Amino acid sequence: MKGAKRILFILGAIAVAIVILSRCMNAADQLPADVRGEAYTGAATCVKCHKDLSESYAHNPHGLTSKPVLDAALLKIFAPDSNSFQYDASQKVVVEKRDSGIFQVAYRDGKAVRAQKFDMQFGSGEKAYTYTYWQGKKMYELPLSYFTAIKNWAISPGFPKENFYYDRAITSRCLECHASYVAVKITQKSTFEKDEEMEKGTVIYGIDCERCHGPGKQHVVFHMENPEEKNAKFITLYQTLTRKQKMDVCAVCHSGNTLVAQRSVFGFQPGDDLEAYYSQDFTGFGGGNIDVHGNQSAMLKGSNCYRKSETMTCQSCHNTHENIKGNLTIYSQRCISCHQSTKHSQATLSKGLLSTNCIDCHMPKEPSKLITFQQAGKDHLSPYLLRSHHIAIYPVIN
Ligand code: HEC
Ligand code: HEC
Ligand code: HEC
Ligand code: HEC
Ligand code: HEC
Ligand code: HEC
Ligand code: HEC
Repeated sequence: MKGAKRILFILGAIAVAIVILSRCMNAADQLPADVRGEAYTGAATCVKCHKDLSESYAHNPHGLTSKPVLDAALLKIFAPDSNSFQYDASQKVVVEKRDSGIFQVAYRDGKAVRAQKFDMQFGSGEKAYTYTYWQGKKMYELPLSYFTAIKNWAISPGFPKENFYYDRAITSRCLECHASYVAVKITQKSTFEKDEEMEKGTVIYGIDCERCHGPGKQHVVFHMENPEEKNAKFITLYQTLTRKQKMDVCAVCHSGNTLVAQRSVFGFQPGDDLEAYYSQDFTGFGGGNIDVHGNQSAMLKGSNCYRKSETMTCQSCHNTHENIKGNLTIYSQRCISCHQSTKHSQATLSKGLLSTNCIDCHMPKEPSKLITFQQAGKDHLSPYLLRSHHIAIYPVIN
């Protein structure tokens, strides 16, 4: 009797184990493969359980910051009367629709001398779109970019203004901040020269969920198998991160060109230490010659708000999952949450707007020192305005 019971018990235990294991395997097997590796599953999977967040995310500048170019979308910003840029009397570049797609075509003395097709778009269009084309495993920037402030084409930042140029290489460094992945092969050609090849088919466009939350497959498998569990498992909880860890998550991409990447930041996960990926640039060359913009991280860290409070992070004012772009009243409420009372002079108070717009006085828009662009027919460079993240007292402009 005792022996039979034991056998029954063992058989029962095996059956339970098989059921559990097969559920595990099923859940994991149902998930799509991801080029980043076994631990990842891709944003399409996250959508299933986080529908609201995913929908708002579809319109978020992070999600939209890189894309393959679709002619239909490009045609929307295509104005029949202003699709060319005249360098001088003999040279121009024209954005041209042909049967095989849309091209940037260079003309010299009325003759087409070079044509490259639009392949990939950088930027959500908040301020600008820059375009690139593939040639084998290398990518190059097209001569003209589209600037939202002027609703028109102008020379891509940093490009020569005397003649058209098609040969500026775009490395994986741009994708590290503007996409979620690309497979890269680096060969050391000599002591100082490296050659980089990128696999076009592996690009994950936009900044996706797992770029900011870390690999999520185990989280998904667990919650598929335990639908009754309401607390998040196997995913980093932002509330549990230290202030530095929270800052690092954003600084991966928002610390401009004062840092040099030591290894690819595609692998950075929340909770990691940024210093393991970047080192300070002591060469003074800004980490190569790419014109990286957006250094909100260092600007903020130099402000008294950041230095004298113990809690301020980017998340004090920004939530990636809401869209309050341009709503300076809501942003001002976030200032007021720390500054319930302020000491303003009568002169300042008389300017009004004190409770609804702290931003324009204390975080004014300033021209980027790195990005300017050349408009047709102008002899000066046009500024590219960014919101200063050095929160301070600035001279009040009337
Ligand atoms: C099978 C359902 C399911 C899928 C698929 C899923 N999650 Fe979740 N997730 C949950 C549940 C349940 C919670 C806990 C309740 C909540 O916060 O919504 C959660 C919570 C979270 C949290 C919040 C953690 C916190 O700070 O509280 C994050 C971040 C998250 N998931 C990210 C992801 C990402 C990224 C993906 C895609 C890789 C994903 N989830 C896919 C079920 C899922
Ligand atoms: C993988 C790189 C990357 C990471 C990580 C990242 N960002 Fe960004 N962020 C970008 C890029 C690129 C843009 C420009 C998007 C565009 O094309 O308009 C951007 C735009 C923004 C904007 C302006 C657009 C908007 O949504 O209003 C804010 C604010 C912002 N990021 C905040 C953050 C915060 C806060 C974090 C940390 C939680 C963060 N970002 C993490 C790359 C990143
Ligand atoms: C640019 C970085 C970034 C991207 C991209 C991103 N998140 Fe988040 N997410 C955050 C941060 C930061 C928080 C924490 C917000 C806080 O606590 O202030 C968060 C919070 C969450 C939460 C819990 C809080 C809530 O609002 O319910 C969930 C769930 C979540 N994210 C899921 C996703 C999913 C799904 C995607 C992709 C569709 C995604 N995230 C893309 C940065 C990001
Ligand atoms: C260190 C991260 C980083 C690198 C590297 C980087 N960018 Fe950016 N880029 C950003 C951030 C952050 C923003 C948005 C905020 C800003 O400009 O301050 C941005 C904005 C842009 C915009 C304007 C987007 C918009 O809609 O307003 C374009 C276009 C762009 N980058 C193209 C490029 C190209 C091309 C490269 C490579 C030559 C590159 N970026 C390299 C982080 C980066
Ligand atoms: C997390 C809390 C916090 C938030 C949010 C915050 N601040 Fe501050 N801020 C501080 C602290 C702390 C100080 C230092 C006060 C002191 O020195 O007594 C400060 C100082 C300042 C100063 C004086 C600067 C100087 O250089 O002397 C200004 C101006 C200011 N904040 C404006 C703002 C504005 C505008 C916002 C919103 C865009 C904001 N703050 C958001 C905490 C915060
Ligand atoms: C005290 C509040 C505050 C903090 C903290 C803060 N920001 Fe901002 N940020 C703003 C405001 C206000 C704007 C302008 C929003 C608008 O015009 O819609 C802005 C705009 C931006 C933009 C858009 C670029 C531009 O110039 O238009 C980016 C990118 C950004 N913030 C990133 C960050 C990052 C990354 C951090 C952390 C290092 C951070 N911010 C911390 C208030 C803040
Ligand atoms: C019209 C421009 C303007 C607006 C709007 C404005 N400030 Fe100021 N702020 C100033 C100036 C200028 C000073 C220096 C003192 C003075 O001359 O009034 C100052 C000083 C400060 C200080 C340092 C003095 C103190 O109180 O400790 C803080 C903090 C501050 N402002 C926060 C804010 C906040 C928060 C808002 C929005 C609710 C705001 N300011 C709106 C221009 C402005």
